[in-house]
Amino acid sequence: MTSPIAHFNGELLPLDRLHISPLDRGFIFGDGVYEVIPVYDGVALRAREHFERLQRSMDEIGLANPHSVDEWIALMTKLLAHHPGDQGVYVQVTRGVPPKRDHVIPKGLTPTVFMMCQPLVTPSREQVDNGVACVTSPDFRWEKCHIKSTSLLGNVLARQISVEAGAVETILLRDGHVTEASASNVFVVKGGKVAAPPRDNLILMGITYDLLTRLAKDGALELEVRRICEAELRAADEIWLSSSSKEVLAVTKLDGRPVGTGKPGPLFRRIHSLYQDYKSRLAAGRAVAA
Ligand SMILES: Cc1ncc(COP(=O)(O)O)c(C=O)c1O
Repeated sequence: MTSPIAHFNGELLPLDRLHISPLDRGFIFGDGVYEVIPVYDGVALRAREHFERLQRSMDEIGLANPHSVDEWIALMTKLLAHHPGDQGVYVQVTRGVPPKRDHVIPKGLTPTVFMMCQPLVTPSREQVDNGVACVTSPDFRWEKCHIKSTSLLGNVLARQISVEAGAVETILLRDGHVTEASASNVFVVKGGKVAAPPRDNLILMGITYDLLTRLAKDGALELEVRRICEAELRAADEIWLSSSSKEVLAVTKLDGRPVGTGKPGPLFRRIHSLYQDYKSRLAAGRAVAA
């Protein structure tokens, strides 16, 4: 089987021909940032917003961005020419390769840039129709969750809790409040109102979260951004997950108990259809800033 084409430091190469130094600070320290951009049949969804978030992550860790947003989009477009269909474009920038392992951030390193495509796997019809199971866990990650860092051990261990419970995600609670899930944002619905946790350092500011809040507003759904306590999560009529690959997905079982009626609720069906409409308008080249 031929190896898929990837971007590495300005070149397009087969993935199996790339070589990265073990001294790369991404490998040694997880000293890097990343993005995952959903692409539907060649059309990227909110690429500019993803590359702007990449810039914010780089600013947070003091890493100079080797490319402008327009340059990133051009590089992604070249890579996508090798990958038709629905793709998730993975973009990673690490601080580069120093001469020796040392925690101190060296000056003047050239960042390592890597970009690859993987087929985009969105929820199945069955998952959309019936919802998915989640479990909860204390949020044991660090306090800079707003940085989309490649240091993902906390998220990996959090996700594994749900894997072992046969669930799709782990919803995290910090000091009695919902933050997010291991690789998704979380929304809670009660009495016809949607709530989403604050956009602070304890969550990743999801591009999908942002889009859903805009679509909710346009679709006249009542949505407030505020802290959500554990009791509200457990008493919710509906819980939703959002991410670039999950899009928006209903949680119908939490820690083994049904959420609301145990079926995806009416507000989920509404936001899901608003999201699918947005995608269709995008495909038709008509998706204005939602
Ligand atoms: C921890 C975490 N929160 C939220 C999200 C959702 O972000 P987005 O909607 O930009 O994919 C992700 C996506 O990977 C994530 O890893």
